[in-house]
Amino acid sequence: IKTRVGIVGGGPAGLMLSHLLASAGIENIVVESRDHETIRTTHRAGILEAGSVALLADTGVDSRVSTHGDEHAGIDLRFGGESHPLDFKDLVDATVTLYAQNEVFVDLAAARARDGGDVRYSAEVTDVWDLETGAPKIGFVQGGDGDDAGTSCEVHADIVVGADGSRSFCRRAVAGEREYKFEYPFAWFGILAEAPKSAPELIYANSPSGFALISQRSESVQRMYFQCDPAENVDDWSEDRIWSELAGRVAGPDGFELKTGPIFDKTVLGFRSFVREPLSHGRLFLAGDAGHTVPPTGAKGLNLALADVKILFEAIDSFYATGSDALLDAYSDTALRRVWKAQNFSSWMTSMLHTPPGQDPFVARRALGELDAVVSSRYGRQYLAESYTGWPHG
Ligand code: DHB
Repeated sequence: IKTRVGIVGGGPAGLMLSHLLASAGIENIVVESRDHETIRTTHRAGILEAGSVALLADTGVDSRVSTHGDEHAGIDLRFGGESHPLDFKDLVDATVTLYAQNEVFVDLAAARARDGGDVRYSAEVTDVWDLETGAPKIGFVQGGDGDDAGTSCEVHADIVVGADGSRSFCRRAVAGEREYKFEYPFAWFGILAEAPKSAPELIYANSPSGFALISQRSESVQRMYFQCDPAENVDDWSEDRIWSELAGRVAGPDGFELKTGPIFDKTVLGFRSFVREPLSHGRLFLAGDAGHTVPPTGAKGLNLALADVKILFEAIDSFYATGSDALLDAYSDTALRRVWKAQNFSSWMTSMLHTPPGQDPFVARRALGELDAVVSSRYGRQYLAESYTGWPHG
């Protein structure tokens, strides 16, 4: 198959790039190992920065984000059993939108299908090569299943993009100059429950027994997380045990009460900080989790991926419009500036809000001092609000 841009990975990053390129008349193909249903039902984060919303709403995706997204003008930081509201609108004149990542995927997949995009699901990439040349290639097997070996195909492109997630085949196919990694001694236990909202805004809670996040999905479905051991088995957790753990972490003298209901999804989410530099190798460009991973606190993962895609799209568009490699050559450095700001923010929020197991009491007490310093200063609240709502797209 001959095309201009070969995209490995059909999650939100790969599909958004494919959509933008197609809108600019740049032929491309997307190769994705999972099937549509698996991606659609994989629960991920749910907060979109304004820049991400604009990318979906203003580029002809026809996303339901404008009609079904839930705009939030703040969060609630809870510690010492007390709530501390942060009003983003007042602090930095910005808001975020709660709209689940799998809905973003559904909208983008529908837009690609509507516009005749070439997206191959259940297509396993087996090789990427000739990346240092002007004619990089992707090998993949389509439809292989059990005894059926499937059909082998090759994509011959000008540019290959690895948007294939944190276990990226593309990243592992080429040596990076440098990899930065940080592991955390905890994970998140995530649930979806049929329950009403417990509070209007999301609650990020620091408690002696660990972090909890009370998020939402709709009026009748709620998303919540609590810090747990990375080896935790979801089957060891009954509904009663989950609710009492969560309730204990948000309890306080104000009598805050968590609204409960039947739990229909339980997962343990891994946790790490990772950046590979540079985000390119010859004519291969990495975008989103393929190049960098953040811990989930603050929900930067999808937003960063979409910011990468915007920068990369402009670079590819300029390459075809002018024949110059300049923006492609600058892609890694340009994207990494925002990536490292988000790495800092995600790891800061994580360390301030979590209680590592068996830690020195000084560390836990210090984090409370930091939270107090943040909420009791308008500058502190503004710093958090600016980072949470997202830096302007460059
Ligand atoms: C959600 C996840 C996050 O990591 C976060 O910081 C906020 C919200 C969510 O899934 O709703």
